[in-house]
Amino acid sequence: MKMTAIAGAAALAFAMASATVGFAEEAKKTLPNGTDITPANMENGRWYTEDGIPTYKLEEDGTIDFATFSGYRRYSAECHVCHGPDGEGSTYAPALKESVLRMDYYDYQEIVASGKQEVNTASNMVMPAFGTNRNVWCYVDDIYIYLLARGMNDLPRGRPAKRGDKTDEFTAQETSCMEG
Ligand code: HEC
Repeated sequence: MKMTAIAGAAALAFAMASATVGFAEEAKKTLPNGTDITPANMENGRWYTEDGIPTYKLEEDGTIDFATFSGYRRYSAECHVCHGPDGEGSTYAPALKESVLRMDYYDYQEIVASGKQEVNTASNMVMPAFGTNRNVWCYVDDIYIYLLARGMNDLPRGRPAKRGDKTDEFTAQETSCMEG
């Protein structure tokens, strides 16, 4: 009798521990280079990792967060002309959906802010500086997470079909950036 009771208690404790572990380990997401891009918290309508790096959030039913959708729109308006549709690249400029997998967030930001020019090629490729262009700079994180989602194959090509709602916090942040 005593043995059974102990075994039962142990089984219950084990079941509870497994449930806890299962919850904590839900949906960890890492880049091929090992960087953790799991969304941990939302601020001003945008998702961030535990390290405070912008990231996207994909729901199980395929809904993508609003900021990533915003990134799709801004990419299509400002970057597509040189970098090709959907982050796929062109004969002129690199595939950014690949670039963001190897380049870290701060390097990405630096290039978008200050531009980049390959000086030792005959092709004369120029990446313009966008640091003072609010239509880009206010959405630089949105474009980044959109490209991450494309690179990780979490978003198909084209306009995202299902997106989350635009929050009041997102709108407030957008207004202060565009008018500030
Ligand atoms: C006028 C054309 C043009 C536009 C518009 C443009 N880019 Fe670029 N971009 C380039 C070229 C060309 C390069 C390659 C430059 C080099 O390697 O020196 C580049 C390189 C980059 C890189 C570095 C990629 C790597 O793998 O090293 C990033 C990041 C980038 N662009 C982001 C953006 C974003 C984000 C936008 C839209 C806001 C944008 N670009 C719009 C032409 C453009």
